[in-house]
Formats: sequence, C-alpha cells, structure tokens
Amino acid sequence: MKAYRASLLWFAPPSDGVALARFEQDGLLVVGPNAQGRQVVQAIGPWHDLQAQYAQGPVEHLPGRIIAPGFIDLHIHYPQTNVIGSPASGLLPWLENYTFPEEKRFSAPEYSAQAATFFVAELLRNGVTTALAFATSHPESVNALFAEAQVQQMRLITGLCLMDRHAPADLLNQGLGSVSGTEQSLRDTEALIQRWHGVDRLGYAITPRFAPTSTEAQLRGAGDLAKQYGDVWIQSHVAENKDEITWARELFPQSRSYLATYDDFGLMRNRAIYAHCIHFDDDDRALMRDTGAAAAISPTSNLFLGSGFFDYEGANRVGYQYGLASDVGGGTSFSPFHTMLAAYYVGREGQTKPGLSLSPQHLWWQHTAGAAAALGLDGANGGPAVGNLLPGCEADFVVLNPQATPLLARKTALASNLDELLFSLIVLGDDRLIEKTIVSQAI
Ligand code: GUN
Ligand code: ZN
Repeated sequence: MKAYRASLLWFAPPSDGVALARFEQDGLLVVGPNAQGRQVVQAIGPWHDLQAQYAQGPVEHLPGRIIAPGFIDLHIHYPQTNVIGSPASGLLPWLENYTFPEEKRFSAPEYSAQAATFFVAELLRNGVTTALAFATSHPESVNALFAEAQVQQMRLITGLCLMDRHAPADLLNQGLGSVSGTEQSLRDTEALIQRWHGVDRLGYAITPRFAPTSTEAQLRGAGDLAKQYGDVWIQSHVAENKDEITWARELFPQSRSYLATYDDFGLMRNRAIYAHCIHFDDDDRALMRDTGAAAAISPTSNLFLGSGFFDYEGANRVGYQYGLASDVGGGTSFSPFHTMLAAYYVGREGQTKPGLSLSPQHLWWQHTAGAAAALGLDGANGGPAVGNLLPGCEADFVVLNPQATPLLARKTALASNLDELLFSLIVLGDDRLIEKTIVSQAI
C-alpha cells in the first residue's frame, strides 16, 4: 500500500450522474495491489477521514499539487508524430501529400521502434495513460508499438491498419506468395490478436483505415473477425470531410449512409470507436446509440483540417457515447488540455443550435471517465477500469502543478470554485502542468 496526500480530482460513479466531478482540497489517495497483483485504487477521500486507517504506511505528501485520473486519448496515430502541422486544403490532399509518405517509412522495424519510443514517452509526458492508436499497414509497426507500451506498462490498444485499395502500392497490405494482400491482412490481424490482445495492459483493435481504402472483401473479413473476437476493439474514421463522404458514398452506394457501410459489414458494436462523426444525420446518431459504438471527438484535428464541428447537441439529444481524442497528426497537440480547450470552442461556436457551453467538468470527463466508458473500460461487468480514481480503478494518475507557470499560479490562486479552477487549467494548461505521470504497476 502507498498513499498520496494532495488535492484530488475524480468523478462520481456513472449512476450518480454523468460528468459529476468530485474534488477534495486535502485528500488521501491509497493505492495497492488487487488480486491479480496490479496496483489499483484502494481508497480515496478526505485526509481527515482516511488518515487514521492509512497514515501508518508510506504517505507521499504533495502540498499544492492536484492528483487527477490519467487522461485517455480515444484516437491518435503513432506514425503521424512527424506529420503534425502539415497544412493542406483538406483531409484527402493531406493524406496523399504528407501522411502516406511518412507512413511508408514504418515498413522498417527500426524506424517503427524509434517512433514508438518517442510516441509513448510523449503521451506519458502529457499525462495520457491509455490510448487507442492507429499504427500503419505494416505488422512491424504494430509489434513495435505494443512492445514499447508493454515496457512502459501503459494501457494501449492498437492494430494493423487495413488498407487494400486506393492508397500508394507500397502502403497497401502486402500479399505473401499466392496469398492476396487482402487475405494476408486478415491473417495478420488474427495472428496479432492472438499475440497481443489481453497481454499485460495491451488490447487489439481491428483497424480498417476508412471505408474508401478497403474492398468489400476486406471489410467483410474484418467484420467476421470482430464477431469471432467479441472483446477486441474496432477503430476507424467516419464522416469527417465532405469529399471523403462523397467518395465513400460512390464506393458503397447500397448502404444507407457512410456510417451504415460499417454496420453493413458487421463493424458496429460495443468497443467500436469511430473518429470524427461530424456530418451525421439523426439516423446515423441512432445507429451509434443502438449498436453501442462510440465517437472519438477530435477537435484540434477538425479545426486544423477544416473538417467541421462535432455536433454535441445532436449526440446528447439522441444519446450515444463519445469521448475526446487528439488525432495527432491531423490533430495539433498531444496535450489533453489543448484538446479540451478546442472542444470548448467547438461546443461554443460550432453548433447548429447555438448556446451550448460545455462545462469544464464535462470537458475533463470526456477525456477521462467518459472516454473509459466509451472504450468499455469503466469496470462494468467486472472488467478493468481506467479514467477515474474510484476504488478498484487501475492506479493511473497525474500529479498537476497549478503553479507550473507564473500565469497559472496567478490565475489558479483566484479560483473560488471547482469550475473556475478547472477552467483555468484547461485554458492555460499544457505539458508543463503535468509534474508527474504514474501508470499502474504490476507487482
Ligand atoms: N481518414 C483516413 N485516414 C485518416 C487519417 O490518417 N487521419 C484523419 N484525420 N482522417 C483519416
Ligand atoms: Zn485519425
């Protein structure tokens, strides 16, 4: 057992209301191993109430610091670290001119390994302890990222990017002997599931890049694997950009909508995370809700690439799950603070029905406990829980220093309630705010 005395931020259980933050000015967080030997939260609450029971063990006192759940990034591309800040007129030219050329380099295991090392370190430096990430269409890239995440013990979900048409030839899934690229990509996916899924804190995601770069045969095969391996994740992109949508509709005219294409191939269910989900109608929103799929909202990417604005009002009205994502390298920052601030702008100015203003508690929830629920990692049905500090949650947390910059110190000292404090951190925060990131260790 180890205890931390600091200010504490966490979220009430979902049954108490979504996004209800709890804050303890002088709190105690107690962590210790669960039955499997993994460090989880054993107790959380006021120092005053818990000290008699826990203060005889080691207590690390962190005066002036705030402990909060580690952040969850619901959608990020590890091969796109070098692509951040590449301007283009929109998604499709950006993919062709910057992203695909960089992703080609990941056929080399050494290139993948150094990129994975930097990527995982950068996530942790920014306070992200769980990520759902794209790799490239090369199995080497997947192995490199899993291997590095395993060493660092972060919770990481990734998978082989399925892409068997409409991309440069050397970025398509490659065949082997008489086996086609399509068939080999599905065999590789299954082999990678068996090698990595459920090992330590790693999880596999079946990863068709987006419908336009997969044949029907590949999407059907991916859907078959999703059915066979019901607890792996699915990740893809949808309804991000108008030209992309036109293209997807031309290629799959028999589906009701772009989103429905994925459903038609068995790729919508719990643990299916779709990035962007911008240009939806209410039937699409209902399909998300009814299948249990979730949206990875990527506001810095959507603003940078001029893709549009996620419709929070529509999502809340119809009622489907979502959480926040950086979408690096379309996205412009690894920092959850930058992503939360961009989401605030989107909620404020990007809505068809004006007037919505996302509270700082709700923004923070979207990047922690809300994102965990979207991933099915909220402890429901006895599974692991992340993104919160309730007892039983894996002990992933950040130590924030609200005095990290002169302006942060000046502004946070003036906060007279929790919303003012959290808003100051969201608006002024970045990697400097993260003094330390602690990931749950196996003992
Ligand atoms: N759609 C298909 N591939 C990508 C990608 O790499 N980034 C983004 N933002 N959208 C995509
Ligand atoms: Zn993406």
